[in-house]
Amino acid sequence: MAPKLVPKRLTDIVLVLVLATTVYLAEAGGLKKTKLSFYLQDFSAFGSPNATVIPVAGIAGKAWTFTQFGTLYVTDDNITEKPDPSSPKVGHLQGMYITAGLDGLNTHVMVSVVFTNQAYNGSTLQILGISKQFDPVREVSVVSGTGKFRFARGYVTFETYSVDVPTQYAIIRCNVTVQHY
Ligand SMILES: *[C@@H]1O[C@H](CO)[C@@H](O)[C@H](O)[C@H]1NC(C)=O
Ligand SMILES: *[C@@H]1O[C@H](CO)[C@@H](O)[C@H](O)[C@H]1NC(C)=O
Ligand SMILES: *[C@@H]1O[C@H](CO)[C@@H](O)[C@H](O)[C@H]1NC(C)=O
Ligand SMILES: *[C@@H]1O[C@H](CO)[C@@H](O)[C@H](O)[C@H]1NC(C)=O
Repeated sequence: MAPKLVPKRLTDIVLVLVLATTVYLAEAGGLKKTKLSFYLQDFSAFGSPNATVIPVAGIAGKAWTFTQFGTLYVTDDNITEKPDPSSPKVGHLQGMYITAGLDGLNTHVMVSVVFTNQAYNGSTLQILGISKQFDPVREVSVVSGTGKFRFARGYVTFETYSVDVPTQYAIIRCNVTVQHY
């Protein structure tokens, strides 16, 4: 005989609803807000042995550039605590960018912050969305996380801190605000 899963009495239904509400409130109460600020060490000179952002695909017959629709880049930037590249390391920014605006202005960002520092070693944050790549401040959503950032949600701003045009070496400040458990 199949077990009776459907509560027969009104009290059972009320009990189930009360329990569900309690769990929901307990979780809401446990939400933490974390703000982080760190720097990306970004070398985009194509062909340089030091490049950390490299175009890997694009539209045949077109130049593969940041402003050309359809250009896909793969990246692995060092992340440091301070603008100085020799300051303590926070981790890596790893993932992809694809120029997704026909006018070349917007890039779609799909990257993860992979922490290796003491505080968040092994945890990650997932950053996803459009970046208006030529705006002074680019805001992109943080859609999830792992480890200490499970269920993370929030946003990140990217702002160019300094740029050396001949070597295409940019230092980018990254401010993260996330809520997580
Ligand atoms: C690559 O990095 C090394 C070490 O920082 C530096 O000496 C060299 O000049 C860089 N090369 C280029 C092409 O930027
Ligand atoms: C990234 O950081 C490591 C040290 O953790 C360093 O050896 C390496 O040269 C850095 N890479 C770049 C491209 O700056
Ligand atoms: C981070 O974790 C790895 C793997 O568990 C370990 O080898 C490394 O020493 C840790 N780094 C820090 C800064 O704790
Ligand atoms: C990022 O954080 C730094 C340090 O807290 C602050 O000075 C800067 O204005 C912030 N940038 C943005 C775009 O909020």
